[in-house]
Amino acid sequence: MKFNVVLTLLLVSIVGIAIQGCHGKVVQFIFGDSLSDVGNNKYLSRSLAQASLPYYGIDFGNGLPNGRFTNGRTVADIIGDNTGLPRPPAFLDPSVTEDVILENGVNYASGGGGILNETGGYFIQRLSLWKQIELFQGTTEMIKNKIGKRAAKKFFNDAPFVVALGSNDFINNYLMPAYTDSWTYNDQTFIEYLMETLQKQLLVLHNLGARKLMVFGLGPMGCIPLQRVLSTSGQCQERANKLALSFNKASSKLLVEMDSKLPGASFKFGDAYDIIDDVIRNPYKYGFTNSDSPCCSFGNIRPALTCIPASTLCQDRSKYVFWDEYHPSDSANELVANELIKKFGYLGVDAPAPAPAPKSAIAPSPHNE
Ligand SMILES: *[C@@H]1O[C@H](CO)[C@@H](O)[C@H](O)[C@H]1NC(C)=O
Repeated sequence: MKFNVVLTLLLVSIVGIAIQGCHGKVVQFIFGDSLSDVGNNKYLSRSLAQASLPYYGIDFGNGLPNGRFTNGRTVADIIGDNTGLPRPPAFLDPSVTEDVILENGVNYASGGGGILNETGGYFIQRLSLWKQIELFQGTTEMIKNKIGKRAAKKFFNDAPFVVALGSNDFINNYLMPAYTDSWTYNDQTFIEYLMETLQKQLLVLHNLGARKLMVFGLGPMGCIPLQRVLSTSGQCQERANKLALSFNKASSKLLVEMDSKLPGASFKFGDAYDIIDDVIRNPYKYGFTNSDSPCCSFGNIRPALTCIPASTLCQDRSKYVFWDEYHPSDSANELVANELIKKFGYLGVDAPAPAPAPKSAIAPSPHNE
């Protein structure tokens, strides 16, 4: 009896080592905009979308700017942390090599980027989703060369992919009269155009090996401080909110369709619109004291385009929903992340918990703790 147990354990650990050896770690690949950027724009030296000055990053690590467009963690940071995945570094960080990617995944997100190439033009430099996918294609080639075609296929098939863009396609494109798209399309045809583009992009990702993919929807973007201050009443811009809801509805439909048609795919959509909307209306219910202005602002001058060392900070950063004119605070991101984890039932994918080797070998569980 005892001998059997020992033998079983031994076998399990040998099998475990074998499995571990060939499929390596589960890591994520992130595509997004400033809500998910972890430093790519720092390396786009001409980009006007920068989070490179204090007080960005004040509640993260050593408190110095790290390229995140918030005071602390991004939504993707928190989801990854809570599900035991490593934090992927910024793709443009020169220290990112094949080995780093095999251990941590990689993040292509770029402030100002959109689903459409033309979005965010006035930032001069940003990585659009197409560009991010092009860079990812390069990554798949690098990894194939490093570990071989078969292992690479498995590596990418097992990885959770996050695609989180869309607000810039409205805020820094369609809703701005300076952009051609704002007078070429109407609300309905613009969203159709976005969906056609997103569908092509997700198909390319599928062709490149993505099987577990989550698309994050939009929040009530008409309620970001910038939109409020631009409205004469100081209230949320209902038009922008309606567009976010339409975008979410159309994306949800697209993802259901793709999920059912694409071989081997678990392609899911999730948004946190409702909860953010409620937080904005009833901040006290969630422990916030302010949901309409940025924690980091420049005196009474609004909109302050960005947070800078000459800005003043709110007294308690954890009590503000918004960090700057555009971006939620760490505390708000935590709320969004928890909501998305709930919606996706951990990422909607059954990636085994990247737990210590013997554990994951014995019990690859569909649910992460
Ligand atoms: C978008 O940009 C990519 C390069 O980043 C290019 O390959 C593609 O053709 C462009 N698409 C459109 C519709 O302009």
